[in-house]
Amino acid sequence: MPFEPVLSRYFYVKDGHTLEHYMARGQYGGYSAAKKALTEFEPDKLTQYVKESNLRGRGGAGFSTGLKWTFLPKNGKPRYLAVNADESEPGTFKDRQLMAYDPHMLIEGIIIACWAVQSNSAFIFIRGEFAREAVRLQQAIDDCYAAGILGADVLKTGKNFKLDITIIRGAGAYICGEETGLLSAAEGKRAYPKIKPPFPAVEGYFRLPTVINNVETICNLPHLIGRGKEWYMGLGPATGPGPKLYCLSGHVKKPGVYEAPLGTSLRSLIYDYAGGPIGEIKGVIPGGSSMPIFTPDLLDTPMDFDTVRAKGSFLGSAGVIVMNTTTCMVNALLNLARFYHHESCGQCTPCREGLGWLEKLLHRLEFGHAKPDDLNLIKEVSGMVAKRTICLLADSLTMPVDSYMKAYFKEFEFHVREKKCMTGTEPGKFAPVEEPALAR
Ligand SMILES: Cc1cc2nc3c(=O)[nH]c(=O)nc-3n(C[C@H](O)[C@H](O)[C@H](O)COP(=O)(O)O)c2cc1C
Ligand code: SF4
Repeated sequence: MPFEPVLSRYFYVKDGHTLEHYMARGQYGGYSAAKKALTEFEPDKLTQYVKESNLRGRGGAGFSTGLKWTFLPKNGKPRYLAVNADESEPGTFKDRQLMAYDPHMLIEGIIIACWAVQSNSAFIFIRGEFAREAVRLQQAIDDCYAAGILGADVLKTGKNFKLDITIIRGAGAYICGEETGLLSAAEGKRAYPKIKPPFPAVEGYFRLPTVINNVETICNLPHLIGRGKEWYMGLGPATGPGPKLYCLSGHVKKPGVYEAPLGTSLRSLIYDYAGGPIGEIKGVIPGGSSMPIFTPDLLDTPMDFDTVRAKGSFLGSAGVIVMNTTTCMVNALLNLARFYHHESCGQCTPCREGLGWLEKLLHRLEFGHAKPDDLNLIKEVSGMVAKRTICLLADSLTMPVDSYMKAYFKEFEFHVREKKCMTGTEPGKFAPVEEPALAR
């Protein structure tokens, strides 16, 4: 049977974000899955069910959602659900669509998650720039209180289950997406990540047990519970199934967010969904800018957590960035170095200093001032930064550095030798791209 989108089904549909529209959606809408969760599942059974479905987090690491929920200690302390709506990874633009076009799907997912982990308080930490999304979410939350969906007796089921949802707006720093940085920011402090353990499930928001899940992960829940585990597990590989939002950008004819089952091939995403490449493909980032790059021989890779990993990269946030043969890979890497260095919170010396060094070295390489030994120096600095820091932001640059230099070494050597781009593009500039058609 052909795959029917469920997460993005109501994107761009007039009034799809309203409660009236959500309630009128028939069998699988209108908070019916949350009602089913509350009335047919005891909390522990629900957690077990989600665990068995092999739903894996869509925020980056692909960790089992149900398993994460089991880490909450049963110590009688209040616990929180923090929804990660920071979405700052370059090449990733799916969560903002979910919040703008289907905020009630997210709220329904939050109710299901909070019932499973027995939390009476959830907050959505949303990136500061997402003004429209924050307004829509707040309206949706207000409408839910007015309709008795949230508050003292959730969905009026008489289960004595109280739930409040609040929105916390960030100030626009990438590091707020890292879960412990997010918690610091939510507590009103600088978004400094913390050393783990303790993990947030044990010691999170104001040192209380906290589950952190990505927006898309939570949006999977109404469909998993509403349609059932069997349906869910039939979409993609058993070890990590489900519907997935893939973000396609770069040199493709129709950039946009496309929903397909996990395990859809990279080739199909580029050619069947995004209208094909503009020009000839040189490389593809499969999972957001921090992930190791794929060369064109890997286009037939099924895009699921385990296969992408087995091929040397990560599915991450499924931000697929296509680069054609006009792209200078030194320039592309310099662009990333500039971003990650700028976004470093500065706590760890290898990250604060090392990313700056990498940016400087790549800058002089790109602009024709490299010294003969600079490629070795770049590798050495990258090696001194990797896996030595509090959070993974530093590795978000060292992984691309290592993979770009491995896959396109000739281009890096050319820059040292000839002092210019192998592609003939002007240093520091990207080749002009034909205006892409608007996505669906
Ligand atoms: C530097 C950094 C930035 C991150 N940014 C985000 C983000 O913007 N959104 C997100 O959901 N997860 C982000 N993550 C992953 C989170 O730390 C966390 O693993 C995730 O929100 C957990 O949700 P999930 O289990 O549902 O995937 C980031 C991680 C790192 C190391
Ligand atoms: S790795 Fe970088 S961003 Fe992460 S805590 Fe250390 S300095 Fe901050």
